[in-house]
Amino acid sequence: MTDKLIIFDTTLRDGEQSPGASMTRDEKLRIARQLERLKVDVIEAGFAASSNGDFEAVRAIAQAVKDSTVCSLSRANDRDIARAAEALAGANRARIHTFIATSPLHMEKKLRMTPEQVYEQARQSVRFARNLCGDIEFSPEDGYRSDVDFLCRVLEAVIEEGATTINVPDTVGYAVPELYGEFIRTLRTRIPNSDKAIWSVHCHNDLGMAVANSLAGVKIGGARQVECTINGLGERAGNCSLEEVVMAVKTRRDYFGLEVDIDAKHIVAASRMVSQTTGFVVQPNKAVVGANAFAHASGIHQDGVLKARDTYEIMRAEDVGWSNNKIVLGKLSGRNAFKQRLQDLGVELESETDINAAFARFKELADRKSEIFDEDILALVSDESVASENDQYGFVSLSQHSETGEVPRASIVFTVGGKEVRSQSDGNGPVDASLKAIEAHVNSGAEMVLYSVNAISGSTESQGEVTVRLQNSGRVVNGVGADPDIVVASAKAYLSALNKLQSKADRVAAQG
Ligand code: KIV
Ligand code: ZN
Repeated sequence: MTDKLIIFDTTLRDGEQSPGASMTRDEKLRIARQLERLKVDVIEAGFAASSNGDFEAVRAIAQAVKDSTVCSLSRANDRDIARAAEALAGANRARIHTFIATSPLHMEKKLRMTPEQVYEQARQSVRFARNLCGDIEFSPEDGYRSDVDFLCRVLEAVIEEGATTINVPDTVGYAVPELYGEFIRTLRTRIPNSDKAIWSVHCHNDLGMAVANSLAGVKIGGARQVECTINGLGERAGNCSLEEVVMAVKTRRDYFGLEVDIDAKHIVAASRMVSQTTGFVVQPNKAVVGANAFAHASGIHQDGVLKARDTYEIMRAEDVGWSNNKIVLGKLSGRNAFKQRLQDLGVELESETDINAAFARFKELADRKSEIFDEDILALVSDESVASENDQYGFVSLSQHSETGEVPRASIVFTVGGKEVRSQSDGNGPVDASLKAIEAHVNSGAEMVLYSVNAISGSTESQGEVTVRLQNSGRVVNGVGADPDIVVASAKAYLSALNKLQSKADRVAAQG
């Protein structure tokens, strides 16, 4: 019998800690549903005690997700743990993940605690958590830079108190594969009750080795859980990327000898969803989910692949969710074909009313664009493209004029609280003029910290997908807009970001 490798996804917690990647409750819920479709074993939904927004997001996910275990992070104190338990109360399967730093540097400089105090707090917290939940994960933060004797004492104690998973974070991405693998093996060998817990790896990517380190923790160290995020999203250089670790274990089953339950055909949709929601664009040469990951440009490669696919391909693009059939629908396509394509893409709309609204947006797009690709459909049904009744601002229409040697000028009509307003401005270019026209009326005072345009399906005929990141009073939000006209896409993205700045209560983890 082969062992199973547990996939623990922390896109919604550690991934969200990336500056600018904060998500609303509804965005998190949508991603959680996609993670469940992917058959992720454990979804870390957030950090319930960190804010009311995060509490609500964990609670909503705990209630909605049926097949995956839903987890909340908590510091090692009774208040945080009780809050996590409360948020998880509705879950089919719940896990509390509690942590405290154990490295000399973190204990002395950050916590200002002695090792003895940390030892006691870790022990008591796990005891307290175990009374509230049967599934407890413990993490010694900065574990990899901790003194190994001290770490063994702490981990033995928390297993004795009932921790069921022990996770060993390389919090600052300092590890190298062989040493990290040996580190996990040493802990498992030296701790007398180590067999009572599942061992887990959690690696950051500061030196670009998060996936390699995680796999070494599995292969050399015997870990049976990997913590990872979609697209490797996460603070600084990110976390171990789910798609890479999963496809490494699946593709090299001969070497790892492990089963993963992940349904890989949903990987690309999950990647797009996370990228669209956060505005973190996936680099084209990113393994598995990058636009070029399966593209063969050189003549020799193309010739080889046509003769026998495995000459240059170790995985099949369609197995991870890339579709062969790129042109999917056009203006003559009917509602049933549209509905079927949504199903094929793994998109579940809540009601017939939502399907009808999405179909109307599809028809409107098909009038302006002859070929509709999967990417267009996904953009059409993304949260961002669906106006919510709580939105303060809505796009109506735009005209702009730019000509060589002339100052570009834009005039825009948009709604504020349901009422149409018109505003005009000059700018450096048509996009600049349009956004200045909005700002001239709204006066948000927000600073733009990112503006990016991505051609959704790779040609000049495609829709432009624009991400605008705004910062105001310490809060950072992303707005995304898609349209064949990139000036319109930019205006939609800007209005979407303003709506998010507006809806304070909805923001899950505003970052300061
Ligand atoms: O990187 C880290 O140490 C963490 C822990 C809270 C698990 O994310
Ligand atoms: Zn982390």
